[in-house]
Amino acid sequence: MKTILILDYGSQFTQLIARTVRELHVYCEIHPPTRSAEKIAALSPCGIILSGGPESVLAKGAPQIAPEVLSSAIPVLGVCYGMQALTVALDGTVSPFTKHEYGHAEISLTETPSFLAGLPSDFSVWMSHGDSVVTPPPGFTVAATSGPSLIAAIADEKRKLYGLQFHPEVAHTHCGREILSRFVHDICDAGKEWTMPDFIQRACANITQKTEDEGVLLGLSGGVDSAVAAALLHRAIGGRLHCVLVDHGLMRAGEAEEVSEVFQNHFGINLTTIDASDKFFAELQGITDPEQKRHCIGRLFVEEFEAQAKQFGEEVKWLAQGTIYPDVVESAGVAEGGKAVIKSHHNVGGLPDKLNLKLLEPLRELFKDEVRELGLSLGLPATLINRHPFPGPGLAVRVLGEVSRSRVIVARAADEIFMQELTAAGLDAKTAQAFAVLLPVRTVGVMGDGRTYQNVIALRAVTTNDFMTADWARLPDDFLAKVSSRISNEVEGVNRVVYDISSKPPATVEWE
Ligand code: XMP
Repeated sequence: MKTILILDYGSQFTQLIARTVRELHVYCEIHPPTRSAEKIAALSPCGIILSGGPESVLAKGAPQIAPEVLSSAIPVLGVCYGMQALTVALDGTVSPFTKHEYGHAEISLTETPSFLAGLPSDFSVWMSHGDSVVTPPPGFTVAATSGPSLIAAIADEKRKLYGLQFHPEVAHTHCGREILSRFVHDICDAGKEWTMPDFIQRACANITQKTEDEGVLLGLSGGVDSAVAAALLHRAIGGRLHCVLVDHGLMRAGEAEEVSEVFQNHFGINLTTIDASDKFFAELQGITDPEQKRHCIGRLFVEEFEAQAKQFGEEVKWLAQGTIYPDVVESAGVAEGGKAVIKSHHNVGGLPDKLNLKLLEPLRELFKDEVRELGLSLGLPATLINRHPFPGPGLAVRVLGEVSRSRVIVARAADEIFMQELTAAGLDAKTAQAFAVLLPVRTVGVMGDGRTYQNVIALRAVTTNDFMTADWARLPDDFLAKVSSRISNEVEGVNRVVYDISSKPPATVEWE
């Protein structure tokens, strides 16, 4: 399949470039900027996009682009830092500028190279840079300027090399999507080969060919990724798929039942549900530290899953996981850069080795919104597909302090009311994630004529595109009043409800 290669110089928008290219029906992959010219040639992309990045291209040790890549006849588009790296590699000049451009800027086209043809002569774009290209490399012309003299776009039509100082991938840039479309379609001739029906066909053929007549095991969590992986695998290999749901007793209201209803009753998928809640609650007793909770749950999950997998014996040779593309990119980044661990995400990466099974990751190439689209195409109900994300350790990270069955019941009941009201008010789609947290403190209240000394529920609702940063959702006062009143009236043991108004950073989405 024709592929656009994106070299990631570290911009927070790199995944946005990739998603936009995919939405234009072109397959693309994100690679680190350290890829050698030979490795890039071996991938034979039909075009290359150099992303933005936080560094100065002039700084010692800043990542560059090998000139051989630029002379390989593959069209290249440099964005922001990418344009500056391209300029430096081809003997143009970049300078630190006293006047930085951050946010909105107006640009004017000075000529119309093919990828800007037909666009308005002036439009507004989104910029974020300190350094600027002062002299384009030999062979390039200035295609657009911002303000009186700053270079906003450069082009060498002959060699099909282009640079944009602004970010075409962000929504604030007018015509940005169109510019990317021109690059991938008109200049790289990438075609429109990336579509969901084609993906399903290819993925099924691939899964069938790989697994031959062997069985596949998949852990269902109630989350979107494993659910979609199950539906896809079932389409490909039917009865050779065996799903296991380890119910740790920490799921949301109705979640285990919904999974069972959809997969066992509707799809006829082989599903074994294990009620392991007694064991989880017993082992969680006395643990209050968030990281210890996460590790304890991760370990128990692996143990339970392992025990169940052994029951299948020789029949099963594969372990499927719902790994998606951002996980792949993120772990490559972690491997190269060693990012700090903020929270140990519940992950079962070590399972295939432990179980001596081969690993199958049918969603590895997909972004989250593509996974959702795939799930709907495979016939999964929209309620399941559009559910807010839910952390692997479940309600344990939403019951602060010690986790017990009775405290989980309180958190779950409050959460259910919050979710019901969000849906009833049509506010589901306005929040990326919303949930209730049970705090480890009690406060004084008055109910009837008596004093109470009871639990506090914190409501958390956020808006975000990528969960890397998030803002608290501005939910209407009347709505919050109704949720608060229902929770304190209907959930036993709660006399106070508060609303979390912290953004991420400095807070995180979950409280633990
Ligand atoms: P934080 O709290 O780190 O959360 O801002 C960002 C997103 O990740 C989810 N999250 C998890 N997801 N396993 C998961 O699969 C985990 O251990 C985990 N912890 C947090 C969180 O719900 C939010 O969507």
